[in-house]
Formats: sequence, structure tokens, C-alpha cells
Amino acid sequence: MTSPPSFEALRAREAAHFLPVASRLPVALVEGRGSRVRDIGGREYVDLTAGWGVCCIGHCHPELVEAIREQAGRLMQTTNLFYTLPQLDVVDRLAALTPAEVTRTFLVSSGAEAMEGALKLAHRATGRTKYVSTRNSFHGRTLGALQVIGQAKHRDPYAALLREPSVVPFDDLDAARRAVDRDTAAFVVEPVQGEGGVNVPGAGYLAGLRELCDANGALLLLDEIQTGIGRTGRMFAFEHEGVTPDVMTLGKGLGGGFPVAGFLCTEKVAATVSLGDQGGTYAGNPLAAAAVNAVLRVVSEEKLAERAAALGTRIEQRLRGFAAEHPALVADVRGRGLLLGMELRGTDAAATLSRRAIERGVLVNVTAGTVMRLFPALNIPEDDLWPALDTLLDLVRSQG
Ligand SMILES: Cc1ncc(COP(=O)(O)O)c(C=O)c1O
Repeated sequence: MTSPPSFEALRAREAAHFLPVASRLPVALVEGRGSRVRDIGGREYVDLTAGWGVCCIGHCHPELVEAIREQAGRLMQTTNLFYTLPQLDVVDRLAALTPAEVTRTFLVSSGAEAMEGALKLAHRATGRTKYVSTRNSFHGRTLGALQVIGQAKHRDPYAALLREPSVVPFDDLDAARRAVDRDTAAFVVEPVQGEGGVNVPGAGYLAGLRELCDANGALLLLDEIQTGIGRTGRMFAFEHEGVTPDVMTLGKGLGGGFPVAGFLCTEKVAATVSLGDQGGTYAGNPLAAAAVNAVLRVVSEEKLAERAAALGTRIEQRLRGFAAEHPALVADVRGRGLLLGMELRGTDAAATLSRRAIERGVLVNVTAGTVMRLFPALNIPEDDLWPALDTLLDLVRSQG
């Protein structure tokens, strides 16, 4: 048996030919099953990152693998010049899952692309050009998404290509009221900010935004790319507040690992588009659609949103207990369902946590500098979860 390549060898290959934009951890993954992944040397890890919240039904769920395999052997690609049944099944399924007013779906390949489509819809529907968004938000890295992103580090290098942004503090209705006017096409917001540090708004925020948008003829555009498909304990995070968006975006968990995303809208918004307004070679591709159908089936059949709610509550309790015991180490615990954040006080401890966790067989992400973010598979076995969590808390404690 040949031994796996060293990290020096991998790093050298990366340095030679990969665009130097990724800061990687020293793990090369080769396979995953459920909530466990294995590296090139055969070492196993419990994965609390789930491919950035994507693998909502776990790595390589047999039903997802089989659906992709079956569709790949049947018809991998055509275009929207023709009908395909998997695509129609997806739009039917999503219409059944979303509020009655949200009737239309268009599938694309990435979250950022879904945001582009959604932003275009808002312009089409209102004829307006101003978008109001929130500080620390993340919506993707394409130019349209950067127009509304609330993180200067992503936006500033391209500011010359963008219009003056209108960005207000998250969870601040008064600030939103001052910014939204009759020039506003849409208020763009994540129901829970993910990349921005797992920030959950207070009760009434989304409902207040809904009212504000209605009063100004603006659209409420909800980015559910990270929060959708059961992640927060409901199929979509806006359900916690009973709010209905005019336009919404989905990605990540939608394909369970297959690169697919989508944007959805009400009949009223859909009535404003023209033929050819949206498109794409891979838009609604049958292989991607087969993946989405399998994911939505599994999430419903295995009641994974409900599981995320119940398990998330128990994890949050555990984190809160730890925070109460270690106020010098933990600044805050927050989140919803299986999108949870524990804000650490020590920036050094946070910066090294992911690296130290690898040595102990756990993959975890730290976002916004100091927030240990947990967004595991919604079906993570408890036998994987609790020991991994104990390991992380042990690591946090040992840095105190
Ligand atoms: C809320 C949100 N919107 C949009 C995106 C962009 O999605 P993608 O990376 O698939 O383009 C992300 C990705 O992290 C996200 O979390």
C-alpha cells in the first residue's frame, strides 16, 4: 500500500496552481458518512461543520447517493428549453412547503447566484434600485451579492464597482425605518445571521420589517441560504415569526451536498418578469433537481426540522451551562435549532480552536473571529455529537 502524500507535498501542489485565496486547515478529506469524515491518512473526525451547513442529511446519505446515481445514469443535463420531471417535482415540493403566497421557484447552482436572481426580481417588481441590508450580513461573493453584503472585508476591495450601500445595524427596527423609503426595492436580510456570528434577532424584528416594507411598497427579501431546510428547527427560519417573504433564497442544505440553490417568490412578483429574464445553462438541471427531491423527502420523512429544534435546545442548554460556569471564557451563547454559536472571549483561543479540535478528532468552524459555530447534520447521531461537544468544551476550558 502506498502511503498518503505529506502535507508539505499537498501544500506545494496548492502553491503551484491553486488561486491563493483559501486559508486551509491541515486535513485532506477523502470520504464521509453521516457525521463522520475520514482523512487521507485514514483518521476519522466528527464533522460539526457539515460542509458549511450543507450536508443537512449527513455525508453521503444513501437515499441522496442513490437518487444522484440513478439520475446520472438516466439524464444528467438538458436545459430549460425542455421539460424534466425532477425539476417540476422540486417546484411542486417547494410550493407545498412554503407559505401559500410563495408559489414560484427558479433553481440555480449556488447561493450567490440565487441572490443575484432574487435582487433582479426585486428590481423588476418595483422598478427601484435601492437595497437596504444589514451590518455583518453575508449573501455571497458575486457583484450583486457584494452590493448588499454587510461585511466590509468582502465588499471594500470591489467598492469601485458597486453603488453606495445602504447598510443598517441588524435587529434594529428604528434604523431600518430610517433607511427604507419609497426608493427601496427590497430589504435584504438573513432571518438568523450565519457568517456574521450566529446572530438571532429579537421577537418581532422580521414582522416589523414586513410591515415596514409593506408601508413603503418595498419587498422583503429573506436569505434562507444558511437557515433554510430545517436548520433552525423549522423548515424555514421565517416560520418562527409567521412572516411571509416576497422573495426568498435557498442554497446549502437544499442539495445536501449537490451544488444547487434557488430563489422563490410570490405570484405578484412573478407576474412582473419577462421571458428570458432569468436563465442559466445549469438552471434546474435534472441531476441537481434529483438531489433536491431526495433531500426534501428525507428531511420530511425523518422529521429533521423537528429533530433540529429538540436537539438544538438541548445543546444550547449544555452550552449555557458551560457559559455560566466559565463566564471568563464565554461571552455569549446564541442560535436557533442546529445553528448555534458560542462567543469566546479569548481571541487567541478562538483563532486556534479549529486547529486544536482537529488534533482531537473534531471538525468545527469559528466565524466572526470569536464565535464557535455548530451547524452539524440535522441527523447527527447523539453518540457522535455529545463526545465531540465535550471535546470542544474541554479545549475551550484548557485555554482559559
Ligand atoms: C446566508 C448566506 N447567503 C448566501 C451565501 C452564499 O452562498 P454560496 O457560497 O453558495 O454562493 C451564504 C454562504 O455561506 C450564506 O451563508
